[in-house]
Amino acid sequence: MTHTPIVELLSSDSIHQEFTVKGWVRSFRANQFVALNDGSTINNLQCVVDFENTDPTLLKRITVGAAVAITGTLEESQGGGQRVEIKVKEVEIEGDADPEELKKTILSPKRHTLEKLREQAHLRVRTNTFGAIMRLRSKLSFAIHEYFNKNGYYHAHTPIITGSDAEGAGEMFRVSALDPENPPRKEDGTIDYSKDFFGKETNLTVSGQLEGETYALGLGKIYTFGPTFRAENSNTSRHLAEFWMVEPEMAFCDLDGNMDLAEDFIKYVINYALENCQDDLAFLEERQTKEDQSKPAAERAAMPLREKLHFIVDNNFKRVSYTEAIDILRNSKPNKKKKFKYPINEWGADLQSEHERFLVEKHFKCPVILFDYPANIKAFYMRLNEDGKTVRAMDVLFPGIGEMVGGSQREERLDVLKEKMAALDISEEELSWYLDTRKFGTCTHSGFGLGFERLVLFVTGMTNIRDVIPYPRFPGHAEF
Ligand code: 4AD
Ligand code: MG
Repeated sequence: MTHTPIVELLSSDSIHQEFTVKGWVRSFRANQFVALNDGSTINNLQCVVDFENTDPTLLKRITVGAAVAITGTLEESQGGGQRVEIKVKEVEIEGDADPEELKKTILSPKRHTLEKLREQAHLRVRTNTFGAIMRLRSKLSFAIHEYFNKNGYYHAHTPIITGSDAEGAGEMFRVSALDPENPPRKEDGTIDYSKDFFGKETNLTVSGQLEGETYALGLGKIYTFGPTFRAENSNTSRHLAEFWMVEPEMAFCDLDGNMDLAEDFIKYVINYALENCQDDLAFLEERQTKEDQSKPAAERAAMPLREKLHFIVDNNFKRVSYTEAIDILRNSKPNKKKKFKYPINEWGADLQSEHERFLVEKHFKCPVILFDYPANIKAFYMRLNEDGKTVRAMDVLFPGIGEMVGGSQREERLDVLKEKMAALDISEEELSWYLDTRKFGTCTHSGFGLGFERLVLFVTGMTNIRDVIPYPRFPGHAEF
């Protein structure tokens, strides 16, 4: 027996025709009105049961959370709230949901906090909020692939297990098959990883960039879109230990081209959501507006969700050099009034999220691309400018989010790259494969990484990154 997705029926004109729908009961009112949801849309389908002619034991089993198959005819709805409804002929219970047991879960029909929902992440996708978020997440993922495919990029699958630390930050999860109780040891007592599965130390990747570069220098334009892992102990609403990153990399492209791409790409995927996820965005917008009512004015969203998204699509990002940004920050009110936790005194300071948010939310009031950062606060692979102290780096900063994108033009000159590596004590031997790209046909090239969850956070208007990935991993948490 085939069944029809609810999203199709809700806009169908096939009145009086018979359909079967399958989904989970969201509510059952007056022994008559079943609100059914199958995940295909935020909207429920009303199914009207002829309770006088239905077996009471069957009626009793139509409870919140139960999985049911309903067959009946599509009719114009008499009641308000929906255009069409199903006049039920037959109900079949596929899976019961004991109301007493269900009461103890987040599926019970009352308001639950996001923290509570997180504890039951395996059930939260059946709520309106998480249904909307996860549908958006899926659509955004598709839009990303569509954008790159349309623009001549190849999708490159870079390894998850790596023998290198792309960011040189050393915050990695080790991958090992050694017996943790009794690992083989070298004479000096340290663990002998040459006896490990790969014959060396390996980790979960922090970024696919270095391998991505090698592919761009053969395929021209590539992107990666995969999970990345960071063992940084950042317990914030913007950090995950496992997150998904989109990393385009382009041969024969400089920093300006890189910034153009980042802006065009972000606008495309946000516009895709606006055009293809209207119901979910409308729901999330209303949700945010309601949430904001209980917040102090300063914490409320500056604009309704969809207006905010349109604003991004319709306006240019502001491009500002690090040096200009430091001047703005140094002379800013919060700096002068000592409101920043990290005061900005001199050129060279690393920007904290309070500074980034000041620039974006208070000063420019739009997304900002900061570029040409001091070399010593950025990764080794970024191209050194002629001034000898800044690199061709760029970060895209977003209101409410902070850093959405980090990228750069890459150092393509072998000698300069080697000097940088030596200064940072990065082994040439370990990265000999990477250095080969600079030996054989090196060229201007650039790329960036976009944190996918930060994008989803922005588009859904949610405030905690743990709520935009199905099973969040963060310090102390790897449930499910
Ligand atoms: O700025 P990051 O560290 O840059 C890189 O990894 C480069 N290799 C990218 C490249 O040039 N190909 O990370 C890129 C983005 C950040 O801007 C942020 O959006 C996101 O990844 N990100 C995180 N998202 C969630 N949780 C974390 N712990 C994140 N760390 C970075
Ligand atoms: Mg960064």
